Amino acid sequence: MKMFELIKDQIKDIKKIVFVTGAGISQESGVPTFRGKDGLWRNYDVMKLATIDAFYDNPKLVWEWYNERRNNVFGVKPNLGHKAIAELEKYANVMVLTQNIDGLHQKAGSTEVLELHGSIVKIKCSVCDFKDQMTAEFSEIPPLCKCGNILRPDVVWFGESLPQDVWQKAMIVAGQCDLMIIAGTSLVVSPANTLPIYAKQNNAILIEINPENTDMSSEMDLVIRNTSAIALPEFVSMFKEN
Ligand code: APR
Repeated sequence: MKMFELIKDQIKDIKKIVFVTGAGISQESGVPTFRGKDGLWRNYDVMKLATIDAFYDNPKLVWEWYNERRNNVFGVKPNLGHKAIAELEKYANVMVLTQNIDGLHQKAGSTEVLELHGSIVKIKCSVCDFKDQMTAEFSEIPPLCKCGNILRPDVVWFGESLPQDVWQKAMIVAGQCDLMIIAGTSLVVSPANTLPIYAKQNNAILIEINPENTDMSSEMDLVIRNTSAIALPEFVSMFKEN
């Protein structure tokens, strides 16, 4: 049986589709995930590096980690999963709510992307309101703001709040969709992992695409145990046939 056979008949009624994505969707592009076997960098636990405490402890080290990740991201391409989501805009109203900071959805051509955890190409001051886009690497790290304080990556670390305007929009679109596809995320990080609940309250169909089980797998209407670069093109092909 084809992967999405169970929902094939419902496709024609689906108008608004929301994707919730995480590190797994970029795995087939060569971007490491956070948990599982990928969760180390130079023998540091990445869960501990992605914190404000780690940054204040050793800002140079955290900057080195982000510089390396940024260089990696610049060298990789969106995969068939990202591309399928972008292509789906031809057939439905599509919104992407991503925890990824790699920009690969936008590179693939998706036009409606909310970056819940910030972006690897953005920076902000750790004290004042200054925000900017990174155009070139800094000659010295940690770089300093005009105000004299340390600049940091404009990303969300453990224990920090999401950008409020982005999160507000994410909750609204999640609560209005007919179908939510959750791809490549372990759904262990809050509040992003509450988005399926908003969709469920709207009686949306929930589909998970992940080779592994997650804590929310049992809440899904359909679970596809496959990788996103394999499953998503097949999902989109159903819209082309209709
Ligand atoms: N296709 C689909 N899913 C995959 C693939 C793949 N090719 N490879 C791995 N996965 C799945 C894994 O099984 C796992 O469930 O992707 C998920 C990746 O989980 P995490 O590494 O926990 O990434 P994510 O859910 O994005 O983490 C959330 O945690 O560290 C923070 O801020 C960081 O945004 C990140 C957040």
